[in-house]
Amino acid sequence: MKVVSFKELDSTNNYAKKLAKEGESGVVIVAERQSSGRGRWGRVWYSDEGGLYFSLILDVKTCDPKIINILAPICVLETLKKYLPNNNKDKIGIKFPNDIMVCVNGKYKKICGILTERCGDRVIVGVGVDVNNTIRKEIEEIAVSLKDICGKEIDKMELLNEILKLLEDYISKIKNRDLDENEILSIYRRYSLTIGKFVKIMLPNNRYVSGKVYDIDLDGIILGTERGVEKIPSGICFHLR
Ligand code: BTN
Repeated sequence: MKVVSFKELDSTNNYAKKLAKEGESGVVIVAERQSSGRGRWGRVWYSDEGGLYFSLILDVKTCDPKIINILAPICVLETLKKYLPNNNKDKIGIKFPNDIMVCVNGKYKKICGILTERCGDRVIVGVGVDVNNTIRKEIEEIAVSLKDICGKEIDKMELLNEILKLLEDYISKIKNRDLDENEILSIYRRYSLTIGKFVKIMLPNNRYVSGKVYDIDLDGIILGTERGVEKIPSGICFHLR
């Protein structure tokens, strides 16, 4: 994949969208900082220097967008896992749908967020990883950086290349039919911190639904609620217990 780097952008996803509209694919846009980094559901993504911020443009013909949604967090998780100290290797997981969380002093904190957006026949996969940036005071309780976990600065470009290499490997295995969607789902389920939990999900219409998570598949969460089993495609998920 071709990597194009910038000192600063408003948002790598915005830039990637512009290129996608011009027909580009297989391109990765990286910025050292973003002035208007975006999170899911219109939230802000703090993008101070030191973090890794990139967006990938993929043609939907290369990979089904529903698979990309679960493949992207798997690739980031498996790459980050290699960097974690030996006593922390298993303390990393995925919070639905695609937040990567690491357990620090008994509490899971977010280290990576992913914003996937559709643009015609392209999918933009925007990834933000707290690598060497200082976590802002207001999110200290819920976010952590790789540098803080490892006790040293990490080579961001090496990390990026490892994530991309893994993604390319998975995509080519899927293309060659060495891996099918059920196998990818079982990898995702193995890393999921959400399956089995009681959760409250804020839906796009601002309503909440709560219940126990029975499973997650390519179409979302399968939730046992007081009304019976419901399928929730997306939303902001809060773990209750
Ligand atoms: C979330 O957890 O809400 C998703 C955060 C996604 C942040 C990344 S940083 C690179 C790309 N550009 C953006 O503006 N957002 C994504």
